[in-house]
Amino acid sequence: MKPFLFVANFKMNPVSREDAENYVRVLKREMENKVFSRSLGVLCPSILHTSLFLDLPPSFFLGAQHGFPEKSGAFTGEVSYAMLKNFGVEYVIIGHSERKQYFGETEEAIRMRTEAALKYLLRPIVCIGETEEEFKAGKRDAILKVQVQSVITGLSKMQAEKIIFAYEPRYAIGTGITPSQQEIVDAKKTIRTFLDTTLGENCAERIQILYGGSVKAGNLAEVALETGMDGVLVGKESLSPYEVVKMLAMADESKNN
Ligand code: PGA
Repeated sequence: MKPFLFVANFKMNPVSREDAENYVRVLKREMENKVFSRSLGVLCPSILHTSLFLDLPPSFFLGAQHGFPEKSGAFTGEVSYAMLKNFGVEYVIIGHSERKQYFGETEEAIRMRTEAALKYLLRPIVCIGETEEEFKAGKRDAILKVQVQSVITGLSKMQAEKIIFAYEPRYAIGTGITPSQQEIVDAKKTIRTFLDTTLGENCAERIQILYGGSVKAGNLAEVALETGMDGVLVGKESLSPYEVVKMLAMADESKNN
């Protein structure tokens, strides 16, 4: 059985070093005497704070929000996937809608980044999802297929099965709005069926599909547990270690039942 993956995307938070250190302290305290057998946490702090998150409690892994595909060289301001891997990072978020919106990342850039992340043995968490206009125009499934196809193009099955897709409808990110359960189930089915037909069921079945967008303890069951998602990508609510542990515990319990 696949573990439930809880990906915490801190975005550009917290501002102070003290707050980042305090986060880890509280997390460790909250995790004392707790073991999750069926859920895993992936914390993605800002690059600057990565070193403060190297010593995490069991069940937690380190991720990054961004990286650069070239191994090294004259790329002022960038941090490479190779550097991240060497530093102890295991997962990297790719293609987040904020990267598309503010930094102009294209589908081709996302494909290249996914390929490079895999080359350096990082697990790519690739964000896909439609805008509100696309949703209203009934284009969700077509958009999802194009995005998934673009990401897996040129990859071997062994590479493709390492990808984690995060379905994040753009209108749900940071808005407090979530799609209905049926919409989430339908989107997941579209992604899964497309992966089955392009990669074969054995490979496709290993690929995890997460839900992201305004997830909190109060709606976790509705948007992710009852809909059979393989995990969640959480922004705002992941800034509280208490909420992270609470949600991981809920997921763990539901997987045990
Ligand atoms: P949110 O962010 O949980 O604050 O909506 C989700 C995300 O960053 O993908």
